[in-house]
Amino acid sequence: MCGIVGYIGYREAYPIVIKGLKRLEYRGYDSAGVMLYDGNDLKLCKTKGKVSDLEEKASKETTTNGTIGMGHTRWATHGVPNDVNSHPHVSNSGDLAIIHNGIIENYAPLKEELIKRGYVFHSDTDTEVLVNLIEEIQKKENLRLGKAVQVALNQVFGAYAIAVFDKKNPDEIVVARLGSPLAIGIGEGEYFIASDASPFIEYTSNAVYLEDGEMANIRLHKPMKVRKIKDDSLVDPYIQELQMNLEQIEKGGYDHFMLKEIYEQPNVIRDTYRGRLHANEGIIQMSGVEDNLEKFLNAERIIIVACGTSWHAGLVAEYIFEEFARIPVEVEYASEFRYRNPIIGTRDVVIAISQSGETADTMAAIKLAKEKGAFVYGVCNVVGSSISRETHAGTHTHAGPEIGVASTKAFTTQITVLTMIALRLAKAKGTLSNTDYHRYLQELEIIPEKVKEALETNDRAKEIASVFKDSHNCLYLGRGYNFPVALEGALKLKEISYIHAEGYPAAEMKHGPIALIDAQMPVVIIAPKQGHYDKIVSNIQEIKSRSGIIIAVVTKGDTQVRELADYIIEIPETSDALSPLITTIPLQLLSYHIAVMRGCNVDQPRNLAKSVTVE
Ligand code: F6R
Repeated sequence: MCGIVGYIGYREAYPIVIKGLKRLEYRGYDSAGVMLYDGNDLKLCKTKGKVSDLEEKASKETTTNGTIGMGHTRWATHGVPNDVNSHPHVSNSGDLAIIHNGIIENYAPLKEELIKRGYVFHSDTDTEVLVNLIEEIQKKENLRLGKAVQVALNQVFGAYAIAVFDKKNPDEIVVARLGSPLAIGIGEGEYFIASDASPFIEYTSNAVYLEDGEMANIRLHKPMKVRKIKDDSLVDPYIQELQMNLEQIEKGGYDHFMLKEIYEQPNVIRDTYRGRLHANEGIIQMSGVEDNLEKFLNAERIIIVACGTSWHAGLVAEYIFEEFARIPVEVEYASEFRYRNPIIGTRDVVIAISQSGETADTMAAIKLAKEKGAFVYGVCNVVGSSISRETHAGTHTHAGPEIGVASTKAFTTQITVLTMIALRLAKAKGTLSNTDYHRYLQELEIIPEKVKEALETNDRAKEIASVFKDSHNCLYLGRGYNFPVALEGALKLKEISYIHAEGYPAAEMKHGPIALIDAQMPVVIIAPKQGHYDKIVSNIQEIKSRSGIIIAVVTKGDTQVRELADYIIEIPETSDALSPLITTIPLQLLSYHIAVMRGCNVDQPRNLAKSVTVE
């Protein structure tokens, strides 16, 4: 995690770096720091807290002039979040400054060695070890910065995206990546460095995304040189034209990114199926699937690997793939999969789902599956991300940048892609009747309208939120396709409002969680008309007879659950299989309003980061 930003050019660097850090705060926000070079010396300002705290401190403590600057917003891995552990870190001589996203795993023996050679450490971080290692190599072997960085990186293992500056050669910044993302924006007489392109989109639309194992010397008024860290071979950098625009990464009148992103869902679901779903012609076309159709059709099973919300989308997909395409599916937490010596065959298809495309565990699961000979397909939101590059083929969700740490639109667009894949395979295999196939296509096409209608539950969700905002616990129940939605509803509530919440399959409740139910326990039940309605009604009765408080998500016009539930939220009717795209909407809104009413930082919940690039 962590966000890094750098600038070298002719403009004042400070405002660019600060604005960039604010855009990257989704990556971590427990401390922040900035380094500026004013032509003579390094000026440093670091603080525990957010970028706004850094700004306040900088305005009192330091000059903010200089056309070269680097900044960092941190999600602590080594050492508590405090001023000293914040980045940038400076070498013992005071000449070198570094910002780092990732973990240097062998920092301890390196640190010991450096201490023996007289180095003094002020922080508990692995990063301070790296900058001093670079300095030691530079001094010992009399090397320029780029070469010293390269030698040092060949001695460390772990993950990193770094930017290093040497005030003895102040016309360059050296950057490198392995396992953590790094984008370089190329302007006229200026360069930008950042964990993603959002900090520099208003300045340039040309960017190079460094590949794993690459480093670059970024020099003023000179073309950038990219080379392999391992063998020093030069690489021809691929300059990409950015698709992102400023509006996409701003709040657009909403109080929070999360709310904006919830409301974007009708549009982004449409963007995700546009050009791929042709309901009238009965066609679904995704080039990644078409090019590899045989692999999917010959699959002995599909293994889905993901984390968090993406894992929940995988669970929904398990039901859909098995129902539509009759292919056995297993859904795995990437973090477990990678460490348990899984049995993977060459006829397995592994689908990796990730919004950011940078989740370390998912990335490791992909590598493992590839080593074992499986075909690996990615469902990713971020174009150019590590996961979309590492997979054999894939389909991008077109959700646009998701800035709120709690995932919303990524979830529904992932389900949209996975549903389309399942339908395409069902068509090829003949496992769905023609009528059902066409019905699902038509229905998927009008899902954005239904999501829009489901968003009209906002006021109702707000009312219910005001009743339950002070709850300590909450149970979410669903069956079948809506069991993963219950898990997702519970995750949304706990991560942004810090209320303990559990998601459960409704029938499983009798095997334990029912003991929790009393008159103080709100139970959110997803009970649409399609699906296992009668069974859910029985579950509601079981809760009712133990005085539980029921908040039910029901299909418009429902009468039976209405009589039993304390609160109902009505959503438009859909088939069972597509219902997660609709039922999830009021649960997102409920969590959002509860978190706002509790005064929580909705977009940046404590202890979390958007992109989990450490295992
Ligand atoms: C929850 C959330 C996380 C992510 C998880 C995986 O709201 O955002 O649980 O879903 O960290 O992230 P990606 O999808 O980027 O791999």
